[in-house]
Formats: sequence, C-alpha cells, structure tokens
Amino acid sequence: MRTTMVAGNWKMHNTIQESVALATAIKKETAHAACEVVLAPPFTALYSVGAAIKGSNVSLAAQNIFYEDKGAYTGEIAPSMLKDAGCTYVIIGHSERRKYFHERDEDVNLKVKKVLATGLKPIVCVGETEEEREKGVTEFVVGIQVKKALHGIESLDNIVIAYEPVWAIGTGKVATPIEAEEVHRFIRGVLGDTHGSSNKNVRILYGGSVTPDNIEELIDMEDIDGALVGGASLKAETFTGIIAKVAEKR
Ligand code: 13P
Repeated sequence: MRTTMVAGNWKMHNTIQESVALATAIKKETAHAACEVVLAPPFTALYSVGAAIKGSNVSLAAQNIFYEDKGAYTGEIAPSMLKDAGCTYVIIGHSERRKYFHERDEDVNLKVKKVLATGLKPIVCVGETEEEREKGVTEFVVGIQVKKALHGIESLDNIVIAYEPVWAIGTGKVATPIEAEEVHRFIRGVLGDTHGSSNKNVRILYGGSVTPDNIEELIDMEDIDGALVGGASLKAETFTGIIAKVAEKR
C-alpha cells in the first residue's frame, strides 16, 4: 500500500515572511491529514519554513540541488546544506530546470545519486512536451527520462517520481485522468523492467494544473499516488483543498 503524497512546489515565489505564513497555515489545516504533505519553498526560505513545520506531519523539500559535496561552484547548493536546512526531499529534473537551465538526463542522474547518498529522497520529474505528445512519442520520451534518471541506482526505496506533462504545467490544461493513468502505468512498467517488483512501492505523482476541482478524478486512478502542485500550492485554501481530496483515497 503506497502512502499518498501532495507536494507543493512554490517555484520562485514568496519571501521568507510569506513562506512562513503560508507554511504555518498549511500545517494547521493538515495536522491530521492521512497523506504525506511536502512543501518546497525557495532556497532562501527553507530553513525558516523547516522551523515553522518542525514536529508536524509536513516535510520540507528543496527545488534543486548540485551534485558535488562542496567546492568552487558559485551559486550552487550542496546536498549536505539542504539536509542541514531541514530538507527530507529534493525535486530533481523539473521541466523548468530542463528548459531554462539546460539540465540533461545525465545531470538528473548525478543529482539523484547524490541525493540518495546523502540520505535525502528525490522527487524525480519527467514529462513530454506538447509537440512530443502530438508526435505520439510520449512513452518513448518518458521511458528514456525514467531509465536515465535512475541509471545505476540499485534500490527504488526512497524514490518518488512525478509525471508532469510539460504542456499541462501552468497552462490550466490538465491531462485527463485516463491520459495521466496511461503514462503512470507505463512508468510503473518501466520501473518493473529495471528494478522488478519493488516498482509497486514507488509513488508516482501527477503534476500539471492540479486544482481542488480536478484532483478527485485523477487520484481515483490506480497508479496516481498524489500530486506535485505549482500554482494551487501558493494559497493555503486551494492546497489544503487538494490535500483533503487526496487523503480520502482508498
Ligand atoms: P502548476 O500546478 O502550476 O501547473 O505547476 C505544476 C508544476 O510544475 C509542479 O512542479
């Protein structure tokens, strides 16, 4: 049985003060939620949000990481620093990082390895562009992303995958439950090919224009284990609305 998860990716939003206020409101509303709740504020607010949610059932995530331990890498953040700030999870390979910062599958793989070696848990993002979906190569693209991200990784314990179709991110164009489930089932199949029956324990989140209104149908799907939420995670009311519906699953 997989524990459902709702993770809020705040992207480049919120000052420290705004972040703490939002985290505090979410913590209060989700004190007894029957699903895992994760918040990914910007780097500057990690420590303060970590302090605000300490002792609650809300966990902290970073939105990115660098794969070296320390050194002359101006502007980068090491895994041990994220652990120090209170993180449990790290989002890796988000499509915005792939698009604007040219992250390749090879970088994603190095980051996943380093995150695991540090005792943190990766939330690995994959997903096709609109053009790729129209060409009918969604499975081909997502399959390569998953295999390359997890290349050389022995155990799927502690790995979370997020399927985020690029065309659905921030567009209001959510994948239909059937479209999403098809890819989630495909991803679980790929994990079965590479790692055997432990694929059944891996949580696969859906991301892309999730709201309290569309989450119910998505979470009903067998292989959808939760959501990675962008825009709707920036308001306590909409984010906790999503959490309430995910927590009802099965
Ligand atoms: P939206 O929910 O704003 O579409 O963003 C999804 C996302 O990118 C989460 O990582």
